[in-house]
Amino acid sequence: MNFEKYIRDIPDFPKPGIIFKDITPLLATPEAFREVIDAMAERVKDLDFDTILVPEARGFLFGSALAYKLGKKLVPVRKPGKLPYDVVEVSYSLEYGEAKIQMHKDALSKSEKVLIVDDVLATGGTIKAIETLVKKLEAEVSGVLCLIELSFLNPREKLSEVKVESILVY
Ligand code: PRP
Repeated sequence: MNFEKYIRDIPDFPKPGIIFKDITPLLATPEAFREVIDAMAERVKDLDFDTILVPEARGFLFGSALAYKLGKKLVPVRKPGKLPYDVVEVSYSLEYGEAKIQMHKDALSKSEKVLIVDDVLATGGTIKAIETLVKKLEAEVSGVLCLIELSFLNPREKLSEVKVESILVY
């Protein structure tokens, strides 16, 4: 299936100069969403991992479907003020701004192997920050899986130590 036709470009959102990749047409097409989750699962079938880490908010959409399909543990990575228990935190730069993310301090055990799943890999800042959180808990990143990679922003330069898979590359 050509998944690209279900991704809508929105110019100048959320700021002038940014072309936003809108995934809602994909989510609104059940057969396309199912096929994309199947394609994502196929990409990681030989990867050794116990747990899927998902950043708020759009990462949840893909990572949770994948965790259900693959029978994996699911851990949310959230913006400040959302997680109720003790957290570990990291600050990072986004394609459009500054941000902080948090994870529960008991979310991962030592040496646990994780796959990070998100919708868009842009500058790689979010994934890099999640890697830092994972390391704080002495767990390990087995790989990164994204629906969309914006290769012109060179995210892989930031993520040279880890295996990165993406379904659509722009
Ligand atoms: C978007 C996207 C990724 C991140 C990619 O999330 O869903 O998580 O930016 O950008 P990067 O590679 O430059 O870090 P956003 O922070 O907009 O949050 P949202 O999913 O809650 O809208």
